Amino acid sequence: MDPVAAGQKTNGLDAYWMPFTANRQFKENPRMIVGAEGMYFKTSDGRDLLDGIAGLWCCNAGHNRPRIVKAIQKQASELDYAPAFQMGHPKQFELASRLAALMPGELNRIFFTNSGSEAVETALKMAIAYHRLRGEGHRTRLIGREKGYHGVNFGGMSVGGMPANRKMFGSLVSGVDHLRHTHGIEENRYSKGIPSHGDRLADDLERLCDLHDGSTIAAVIVEPLAGSAGVILPPEGYLQRLRKICDKHGILLIFDEVITGFGRLGTPFAVNKFGVEPDMVTAAKALTNGVIPMGAVFVQDKIHDAFMQGPENMVEFFHGYTYSGNPMACAAALGTLDTYEEEGLLTRAAELSDYWQQAVHSLKGLPHVIDLRNLGLIAGIELDPFPGAPTKRAFDVFLKAYEAGLLIRTTGDTIALSPPLIIEKSQIDFAFETLTTIIKNLE
Ligand SMILES: Cc1ncc(COP(=O)(O)O)c(C=O)c1O
Repeated sequence: MDPVAAGQKTNGLDAYWMPFTANRQFKENPRMIVGAEGMYFKTSDGRDLLDGIAGLWCCNAGHNRPRIVKAIQKQASELDYAPAFQMGHPKQFELASRLAALMPGELNRIFFTNSGSEAVETALKMAIAYHRLRGEGHRTRLIGREKGYHGVNFGGMSVGGMPANRKMFGSLVSGVDHLRHTHGIEENRYSKGIPSHGDRLADDLERLCDLHDGSTIAAVIVEPLAGSAGVILPPEGYLQRLRKICDKHGILLIFDEVITGFGRLGTPFAVNKFGVEPDMVTAAKALTNGVIPMGAVFVQDKIHDAFMQGPENMVEFFHGYTYSGNPMACAAALGTLDTYEEEGLLTRAAELSDYWQQAVHSLKGLPHVIDLRNLGLIAGIELDPFPGAPTKRAFDVFLKAYEAGLLIRTTGDTIALSPPLIIEKSQIDFAFETLTTIIKNLE
């Protein structure tokens, strides 16, 4: 190959096809991160960038935390990999026990995956298989919710409700239906914390039970708070109502806590925050502080126990991943849990949430801001879309914030903020002052 072409191939930006990215726009004007410490990223042009989104809702303890770094270094030199099937290593069991102790109620059994998407696929498969084991093999339907996000694999995409994530990929998994979303901006505009209107939207599950017959439905999966579609909160009483309807019809309830898990709402999980116990919980991201890919499904004892029948030499659940409970991931997760515990991070968002709420709602009245939403250390800032160019206005804010030293995330025309839980008040001030200046000067 000609050396110039070879150089382009090895040093250029062409080869890497970036996920969920405007590849051509990025490669015209790359934004490279080369380091991270605490609340900040370091860019390739030598600037500090305040991390307003905990990486991707995952670095809840901030960056480059010593406990986690040491745990990984030690693990790499002791045991790099152990076969995931028919063999174990001690850290898998230690981690599962610690996670079970963190979760309330009967959610005591933990299945490891490598991502949130895989945790969702695992939970959906468990739900269908569980009913079959109990002699209810007719329960095969899965119910998601409009605007839901449950990752990118076929099951998660099918129960998910974001049109752009679905429309290119054919007819998806059959037998899936969707509840109406809870994005009630007309009734709940500028709500502080949990919105008061809309708990009756949970009754939409009764409509689906009428349509399909409740006895055909295996599980309902929802995010307690939907992040990816633009920070959509559950109305007061909504999740409780959903739980009751599931119970009435024998349907399993799955909470997808991939972003709400590990302290984001001021409690260890949304399960604690809302006092509603689902039958399964999916988690990932902040489980390892985002450092090594890992996901988990928390499963109620009754579901696990239904599988533990039949001959003892037989595999009970024909499902798993080469990297389920990988030693490096387990070490990272244990170092992460130690950090959360030592620094009280699983409840720190509760201490900061009043200050955070005030800061979020200080944007009320700025041009183009049409709604503000907050809970724990999460904010959604919804902007009026640019005429004829949806998503452009929020993305302009993203680019300007990046230049000004603040990393935010946008979805549609909503700006989402979810900083590491170690954030200081002065850093909250910086984030919202920066956004105020940018939004005031928008086209
Ligand atoms: C609620 C929810 N579920 C699932 C996922 C998918 O997780 P992953 O990207 O680790 O596959 C995400 C990712 O953002 C999420 O927010």
